[in-house]
Amino acid sequence: MAQNSALSRQTVFIATCLIIGLIMAYRGYIYFGAGPGEGVLKLLGVLHFVGIIGIFVMAGGGRHGFWLLSAVNIAAVALFIFVIEDAWLRNTLLHIIFSAAFLSHLPYLNVPRSVELMRRKLLGKIGDAAMGLLNIPWLVGLIAKIPPLDAFINRIVINRIVNQVRNRPHVFSTKTPYTSWSSLTDTRWSARHLEASPIDQTTLPAFEKLRPLFARTEDTQRMCPKSTCLFPSFAQYLTDGFIRTATDETSPDRLKMNTSNHNIDLCPLYGRTEAQTHALRVHNPGPAERGKLKSQIENGEEFAPFLFDGDAIKPEFALLDKPLGLENLDKAIANGTPEVAKSVHEKRGRLFAFGGDRANSVPQTAMINTLLLREHNRLAGEIGERNPGWEDEQVFETARNIVIVQFIKVVVEDYINHIAPSEFRIKADPKAAWHAKWNRTNWITTEFSLLYRWHALIPDEITWGGTTHQTNRSYFMNNQPLIQTGLAQAFEDMSAQKAGELGPRNTTEALLNVEEASVAQGRFCELRPFSDYLEYMRRLPIEKMSDISSDPEVAGLLQEAYGDVETVDFFVGIFCEDRVKNAPLPSMILSFVALDAFSQALTNPLLSEHVFKPPTDPEADHPTFSRYGWEQIAACGSLRDLVARNVANPGSLGFIGMTQQGWQRE
Ligand code: HEM
Repeated sequence: MAQNSALSRQTVFIATCLIIGLIMAYRGYIYFGAGPGEGVLKLLGVLHFVGIIGIFVMAGGGRHGFWLLSAVNIAAVALFIFVIEDAWLRNTLLHIIFSAAFLSHLPYLNVPRSVELMRRKLLGKIGDAAMGLLNIPWLVGLIAKIPPLDAFINRIVINRIVNQVRNRPHVFSTKTPYTSWSSLTDTRWSARHLEASPIDQTTLPAFEKLRPLFARTEDTQRMCPKSTCLFPSFAQYLTDGFIRTATDETSPDRLKMNTSNHNIDLCPLYGRTEAQTHALRVHNPGPAERGKLKSQIENGEEFAPFLFDGDAIKPEFALLDKPLGLENLDKAIANGTPEVAKSVHEKRGRLFAFGGDRANSVPQTAMINTLLLREHNRLAGEIGERNPGWEDEQVFETARNIVIVQFIKVVVEDYINHIAPSEFRIKADPKAAWHAKWNRTNWITTEFSLLYRWHALIPDEITWGGTTHQTNRSYFMNNQPLIQTGLAQAFEDMSAQKAGELGPRNTTEALLNVEEASVAQGRFCELRPFSDYLEYMRRLPIEKMSDISSDPEVAGLLQEAYGDVETVDFFVGIFCEDRVKNAPLPSMILSFVALDAFSQALTNPLLSEHVFKPPTDPEADHPTFSRYGWEQIAACGSLRDLVARNVANPGSLGFIGMTQQGWQRE
């Protein structure tokens, strides 16, 4: 059927070329043959012949033929109107029809590479200039004072970012190298932006050759000029919720598969499944406990309950996904020296019963989950009090709806605004997505699982409550620094320390094995090389390694490892690019993160038009969030807002932020 319609479209196209070509040839011949002194008519004749060249170029598949023909027609119309003064139907309209007749064929014609590259350069310059305007403080301040203009520009910025690449649904997944019904619907397989690579992955350099591109070379690590440690803490927590490569080692295809719900659903807090959520909730609650998650008081503060009771996981938490890396702790307890076994046993005993298998990985992720747990329970208490007739279930679900939406607001308004190099503050305006063509079902891609691995952001040491910890094995899965420090001080501490700089040769020793695993995962999933993703993003092509990194040593290492710029692995290329000025991320990562953040966060079901919109009657309760919840959402735009609601002395809270205090634009 598709073949038939393509055939008939081509037939119509050729017929159009012939008919219009013949008419133009005839009219051109008449005009050109005009007598002496009729220079204008001769010129018209020449224009007609040039128009025929345009038609020839189109017939050969070139889109620029259309623009040539259109330029000719515009010139002819101008001559008729302004010089010959014999316009309208017979002449002018005819020339408009000559161009308009080809409009429907335009998408099937090719843009020559040189023209396309010129277009990219020009559009890039225009885009940069427009975004440059959004870096002028007084202009941005003025825009912020005019809410409708602010909302309008906000939507333009979001749409520009999301529309950099084609919209979902993705054509391919990791299931099969061709499109099939299950590859389009079975979300246990990861989606992919680009189809599998034709490159034989075994010909690519071994990780040993790439190690110098990731490992730190000097004693001093490079620190990020913009980000505090709160930034990687939040990034890690956020991604742990939906970038979830399968971990079942017995599955041969696990690296192509995932256990994600493909939404920001806060599964690290609530669990991935209904049964897990149930295990985390207070059972048979009294009136004041309705809708709450289980918690305990440690060191005078609210935390999740511990997962273990002695040597075993508490039966009530048997359904939770086990913390990743738990087997390493078990092994150390079984095989380590008595001293090691004792300290690891204590560490295991302090693992929290969290919804997510990665929320215990480092104290930073436990810190954010603890904050959200407190916020959930606080909201549940307030909602329960305002609605004495509501059952446990309704209180729980309403609190969960509010927490998820507040979290998304923090993602856009705190986290994405930290990442963005621009002065303009983006707002989490769900309306931007309601009628957008990119508002399609979410599906995490295999590329996303790699490009979000920001391990170089982790510094060699992190200080909690005055004690400095090396970020090595003993630090991982250790909740003691958080419990001892307390939540308020923990957030202040993370906000007072610089993150590492994301980029080449800056990963701490203990995480180099993760970089190795990442390169292996990219190859197992047969990702296309970095250069193909530049093309996908409509960037300018690269010819040499110095087009990836301006650091001659990095370019040299790339050259030594790969030789050919067109074979550089996606994962290696994206982390070797230069960091974007005024942003914490390299260029391609920045683009992917921004476009996925909006196209995945703003398309959350809780933000959809009929779920999110408040009732028209200002006195009515909001059906999804309750009136109280609606006000809480409006009042939350940053992690600091959430911390202030959930610590003992919010008035004495110090600086909490992802951007370093006193950061100056570069
Ligand atoms: C000290 C802190 C961290 C530790 C110990 C850690 C550890 C790990 C480990 C062991 C893996 C699995 C690697 C593999 O076998 O494929 C991983 C994957 C990953 N990490 Fe980290 N990481 C840390 C920080 C971060 C940060 C700051 C980010 C920033 C967003 C991040 C994002 C990711 C992502 C997106 C993945 C892939 C997840 C998946 O596909 O399932 N990590 N990390």
